[in-house]
Amino acid sequence: MSYGDYQLEIYLNGLTGVVPSHPMTFAELERRAEQTLPSWIWSYVAGGAGDEHTQDANATAFQRWGLYPRMFVGAAERDTSVNLCGIELPSPLMMAPVGVVGLCSQDRHGDLATAEASAKTGVPMIVSTLSQDPLEDVAARLGQTPGFFQLYTPTDRELAESLVRRAEAAGFKGIVVTLDTWITGWRPRDLTTSNFPQLRGHCLANYTCDPVFRKRVGENAAPDAVVAHWAGIFGNPLTWNDLAWLRSLTDLPLIVKGICHPDDARRAADGGVDAIYVSNHGGRQANGGLPALECLPDVASATDLPIIFDSGVRSGSDVVKALALGATTVALGRPYVYGLALGGVDGLVHVLRSTLAEADLLMAVNGYPSLADLTPAALKELRI
Ligand code: FNR
Repeated sequence: MSYGDYQLEIYLNGLTGVVPSHPMTFAELERRAEQTLPSWIWSYVAGGAGDEHTQDANATAFQRWGLYPRMFVGAAERDTSVNLCGIELPSPLMMAPVGVVGLCSQDRHGDLATAEASAKTGVPMIVSTLSQDPLEDVAARLGQTPGFFQLYTPTDRELAESLVRRAEAAGFKGIVVTLDTWITGWRPRDLTTSNFPQLRGHCLANYTCDPVFRKRVGENAAPDAVVAHWAGIFGNPLTWNDLAWLRSLTDLPLIVKGICHPDDARRAADGGVDAIYVSNHGGRQANGGLPALECLPDVASATDLPIIFDSGVRSGSDVVKALALGATTVALGRPYVYGLALGGVDGLVHVLRSTLAEADLLMAVNGYPSLADLTPAALKELRI
């Protein structure tokens, strides 16, 4: 069985008159998600910082690169397996942490549905701190697929430690610390409707069930008091001085998310992190104009550490290009959320399988039988 066989399944179903119930392109996925989701959730998920130039540039940056077709390779079987920080994965695809994915399924337990899709596909989920269900409940649905916990580091160090301890106890295989979101970027779509889900009490389950958080707010705190306390401790403007403390929190692989400059990658490596996560948060945080993909080659040159990449990945072809530019694994963001919104676990599984199938078939057609063959030399930069 190869990932590309998903297309055979679809064509064979067609012989009995069954066509896919979920979209086959990102454009259609996005269009239907907008029709399906309540407008305040849609605005929060689809929106970005400023005029959303960076968010759009993240996706169009992939068009600047083309993959050379190589012939007489006979890539009849493709090896897509990869080792990330000692963890064996069947493919380089992951699911980026998305707070509020919990709100994107019909039953508002989208984190659990995402975990189920992870269990079904073997595509690891990076579970956000801002989940609707506690991280322990999400971990329980991951099956055999390794999971990662994404930490938004609160200013309360004891709470940070408690979250990490809980993630370890729940069986997560790595901690992803997100560095670019200690303060919320300027998001006109959400500002227009004064829409910030967490301030309305959504996606705070990991806090409200945490013993340290509960000790701070008191057992019977009113919802307003809970949100006010959360808002007060959520964002920690970390500096390099904090890295030794972060490192000391866990023996699990420590991955830092939001690194885009090669100097930062070098310094993080010196500070003992296990992997670098190149991302500009999908253009949601700063409208600086620099697509994350542009940063990837320099970061890859600066460090031997494994690299996770996200921001603007919309297809299997994008996955392959990011791998060739130096990523070890590549994370999907909005596309899987839209799949969940449209079709629950099935819709999400469809998006993951489609992405994997396209990447696998691209490697087959173009003659790249393994991930090791996907190097910068496989790409040509277009003059556009
Ligand atoms: C995010 N992202 C994010 N990142 C993170 O580290 N923790 C989080 O809780 C969230 N929450 C979140 C919510 C929503 C609605 C989105 C769209 C994104 C960022 C995410 O991990 C990833 O970096 C981006 O989604 C990548 O951009 P694209 O490919 O989705 O455009």
